[in-house]
Amino acid sequence: MKGVIIAGGKGTRLYPLTKVVNKNILQVYDKPLIYYPILTLRDAGIKDILLISGPGHAGQFLDLLGSGKELGVDLSYDIQEEPKGVAHCIAVAEDFADKGPIAVILGDNIYEDNLKEAIDDFKKQGKGAKVALKQVHDPERFGVAELGKDKIVSIVEKPKKPKSNWIVVGFYLYDNRVFDVIRTLKLSDRGEYEITDLNNKYLKEGTLTGYKLKGEWIDAGTFDSLLRANKFIAEKAKK
Ligand code: G1P
Repeated sequence: MKGVIIAGGKGTRLYPLTKVVNKNILQVYDKPLIYYPILTLRDAGIKDILLISGPGHAGQFLDLLGSGKELGVDLSYDIQEEPKGVAHCIAVAEDFADKGPIAVILGDNIYEDNLKEAIDDFKKQGKGAKVALKQVHDPERFGVAELGKDKIVSIVEKPKKPKSNWIVVGFYLYDNRVFDVIRTLKLSDRGEYEITDLNNKYLKEGTLTGYKLKGEWIDAGTFDSLLRANKFIAEKAKK
């Protein structure tokens, strides 16, 4: 399976850190943030990876990562011309995917888990999509999943009143129909093609499954969570 890293967006929540540097290149202890999702994909067995960023940012990634050889992966690059959401960014990967399934990871997410098990489960599932889930204290910042007995009942993006503290994190597995499904999405109120709307299409079809993370997970897109990511990685490195 091929991998897609979503590194678009302007990182406005991290201004002025992100005024001249892409968010995903900021420091997380001893590595730039983007290394973590790359290594997560690699350690899960995904080495053929497309990194998608916004206009004016790809050069920073190319200078930093080059072919990807140093990290043991094979990197390609593409551009999301307008910041119109995560689902819109995934659409850029259609040619790269070459009619196969894809694993998508957000460029600012740090995972302690090895995600190979999730990928193996998804391969057995055969069709549909799989999302990774994590319990957090501040679910209203994320896509929130309402869980039934053994399935996801609903997903709501940044709800004011979350129905649970289980959130959909930034790791998604999709079958090869994902690009057709994205074409059916409508712009959200905030003017984006939402990843949550994409996942809800699969949910409605009855082919969306969840994978509960066992280890730590951090979305490093705010000052506090970036600091938490630095502390977490620093402590882990010293163990
Ligand atoms: C995005 C998704 C959200 C998900 C989160 C994980 O939010 O829209 O569903 O829970 O990533 O990091 P954003 O970081 O763009 O606000």
